[in-house]
Parts: sequence; C-alpha cells; structure tokens
Amino acid sequence: MKKLLQIVLVSSLSFLCFSCYYDEIPEHILNPSEIPTDPTDPNYVEIELSSSIQPIFTANCIGCHNENRDPDLREGNSYNALIPDYVISEDADVSKLITVVSSGHGGLSIEEIGLLKAWINQGAKNN
Ligand code: HEC
Repeated sequence: MKKLLQIVLVSSLSFLCFSCYYDEIPEHILNPSEIPTDPTDPNYVEIELSSSIQPIFTANCIGCHNENRDPDLREGNSYNALIPDYVISEDADVSKLITVVSSGHGGLSIEEIGLLKAWINQGAKNN
C-alpha cells in the first residue's frame, strides 16, 4: 500500500512538472531536439528569445549573471551580452553558451538546452 502511494505520488509529481514545462513549448512539438530550423519546414515554429529563452535565463541564471558577471543574462541585456562572444548564430554546437550549459552549469534540463540550441540554430534572433 505504501509502495502504491509512492508510485502515485511520484508519477503525479512528474506529470505536474512536465505539464508546467510544456506550456512554454509549441504544442505540436514535444521534443525540442526536433524543433525544425528550416523555415520552409511545414512544422517550423520560431523559438523566441522573449517568450521561450529569456524565461530560462531569468529562472536559472540571473542570480549570478547580472551586472557583476558576464554574460549579463538579465532581460533586456541578454541578447547583447551573448552575441557574438557566447553565441555563434546558426551554430549551437560551437557556441560557448551551449558548451557551458551542456556541462551541467546552471542545472538546465535536456529540454531547456534543446530550446537554447533551436533558438541559436534558427539564427539567434532578437525576437
Ligand atoms: C551560482 C551562480 C551561477 C549560476 C546560477 C549560473 N552561473 Fe554561469 N557562471 C558562474 C560563474 C562563477 C562563472 C565563472 C566561473 C566558471 O566558469 O564556473 C560562470 C560562467 C559562465 C559562462 C562562461 C563565462 C565566460 O566568460 O567564460 C557562461 C556562458 C555561463 N556561466 C552561463 C550561465 C547560464 C546560461 C546559466 C543559467 C542556465 C548560468 N551560467 C548560471 C556562476 C553561475
């Protein structure tokens, strides 16, 4: 009985986490590593700095990355702080932002890193 309770608790907790998280991802694409980067792809959805990327920085990074530490990832500063030193437009794999967070720095999930990569590979727009 105790075990059953644990299972119910754990699964409802993880459901809760996922349901909040996926609110921010375009509905028809649940796996950010599959977000198309080619605008002619029928499933193309533009990942916006303002609505999808900045909230990740605001929630996970700006406690340290503010006026006291580069890159300054606060809203309104992040774009100019990242480009061109930390983000190479259309090349997420060589962008320092991605190599740093992929090492576990900042504690981002695979999904969040996927969104950062998609934004970069879509041209890292100030959108
Ligand atoms: C607890 C404080 C803290 C948090 C939270 C944090 N960082 Fe950092 N970050 C640092 C420190 C300190 C350094 C420099 C030393 C190092 O490399 O670990 C750094 C270095 C970096 C660098 C390399 C800077 C350079 O000039 O080489 C990047 C890029 C970076 N952080 C991005 C992020 C991102 C993106 C997040 C959020 C997902 C984040 N950090 C969260 C403290 C933090």
